[in-house]
Amino acid sequence: MERVSRSSTDTSPRPDDGATGSTGPWWRDAVIYQVYPRSFADADGDGLGDLPGITARLPHLADLGVDAVWLSPVYPSPQKDAGYDVADYRGIEPVFGTLEDFAALSARAHELGLRVVMDLVPNHTSAEHAWFREALAGAPGSPERARYVFRAGRGADGELPPNSWRSVFGGPAWTRVADGSWYLHLFDSSQPDLDWSNPQVREEFTDVLRFWLERGVDGFRVDVAHGLIKAEGLPEWDHEQALLEGATASGERPPMWDQEGVHEVYRQWRAVLDAHEGERILVAEAWVTPPSRLARYVRGDEMHQAFNFDYLRAPWRAGELRRVIDATLAAHAEVGAPATWVLSNHDVVRHASRLGYPAGQEPASGVGPDDPQPDAELGLRRARAASVFMLALPGGAYVYQGEELGLPEVTTLPAQVRQDPAFARTGGEDRGRDGCRVPIPWEGGEPSYGFGPGAASWLPQPPEWARLSVAAQTGVAGSTLELYRSALALRREHGLGRGALAWDAELTGGDVLAFRTRDVLVVLNLSARPVAPPAGARALLVSGELADGAVPTDTAAWFSLG
Ligand code: GLC
Repeated sequence: MERVSRSSTDTSPRPDDGATGSTGPWWRDAVIYQVYPRSFADADGDGLGDLPGITARLPHLADLGVDAVWLSPVYPSPQKDAGYDVADYRGIEPVFGTLEDFAALSARAHELGLRVVMDLVPNHTSAEHAWFREALAGAPGSPERARYVFRAGRGADGELPPNSWRSVFGGPAWTRVADGSWYLHLFDSSQPDLDWSNPQVREEFTDVLRFWLERGVDGFRVDVAHGLIKAEGLPEWDHEQALLEGATASGERPPMWDQEGVHEVYRQWRAVLDAHEGERILVAEAWVTPPSRLARYVRGDEMHQAFNFDYLRAPWRAGELRRVIDATLAAHAEVGAPATWVLSNHDVVRHASRLGYPAGQEPASGVGPDDPQPDAELGLRRARAASVFMLALPGGAYVYQGEELGLPEVTTLPAQVRQDPAFARTGGEDRGRDGCRVPIPWEGGEPSYGFGPGAASWLPQPPEWARLSVAAQTGVAGSTLELYRSALALRREHGLGRGALAWDAELTGGDVLAFRTRDVLVVLNLSARPVAPPAGARALLVSGELADGAVPTDTAAWFSLG
């Protein structure tokens, strides 16, 4: 195998971790920014974002102070699930650009000191992938079909699906083809599941990894990492289907998620990454709980990081946040991996809106115009506090495009513009994820607010977004953008990602969380009563404003104790 060197561009000083005196690998405390390519920046004006658009806006990310960019999928795709339906793993979707555009993006990112993480979608392909076309053309039982999960139906004429599994997006997880066989799709019918017990499938993906590693990518976020292997015999599971793995009340575990066999796949992949120079990473999108199960994905010879969805889903209550933090840190310490923290992504209601509901009633998936609406002011206040608090926690953190602007979920999108397959497959009952995918406002008062050269935008942007644009917030004291910039700069300066969290017994209690990390005291006040820091503490960063030196409700602050 070819050994590849990546341009080593990370020259920024990193505080040592105190324990070993070494600076350690970059990803252990990295802040990784998720770019959702359809909605980030549109260079050619067709209303869909593209790679040249992203490249031109990379300086925003360097100024923001993140370490890496994760791109949601940019491969050729019919876009039935916004690119999570991949037709060719070794190319670039023409709407987004070309392989040359990707090389330019990657070069520019590295020049700016930013690493680039691709999104890899191994659980399923698009129905337009060459393999699935061959499978449809092949006979039942043929090797072409054996790359997917084809089965005979039940009932006298096989007219019933092979089992009771449901799609995560609603409806049955099986679709029947012309000759009467059925294929499995845990997501949309345009996303047939691959059969990972087939060695050809395994070889194909290690080859795809090498393809991108040799093009200098710094890592992969692995889509639905807990789903590749299904339990032997595809046992019945007639519960409602969700992406989040979890046992039922009676302790049964879903047969399609978090099966032991997935770990062997990631051990193989880790070996592929380790055979390449540089510190390349694998990140698991594994909706598994509790944290002790999640930590199994980041054992020393598997992935590097896993998204912490228990943290994202925790209600706005000090006790529950603390429980998740403690369980996360303990589980990750056991396997020697850094924890990660995340509040928003392209699949969930943006936290500036999610937190605008009463604690414990935060919506899990989309919000529609006729649903109860969030309290926008409260949501933003809490979101700023949540972000300031999160960015002080030890380990890595993820930031989803637009959260640094305090963008809310767009809850008022009419049915006819919604594109998430989950909306269509449930007849609108699941509102879908379009509300967190609306294109970013960069500058100007006219739609598309600088997203593209004209007004075109694949989802409509609300008029309020003019005042939330990057330009409108740049240099404005107290803006959410400047808050993130300061937080990221201070996080780096104080080495908070490499700190060790120690709860402050005096301040923590009731609905207040306070911890010390390095030379910083972090306070999050969810109670009604202001919390005064110890005498002599100097405020470094506040998500809102202190009241007579104390931290008011729904506010987070960092204090220097030095
Ligand atoms: C992951 C992606 C989501 C996608 C699904 C199917 O959960 O984050 O956007 O719809 O996988 O690929």
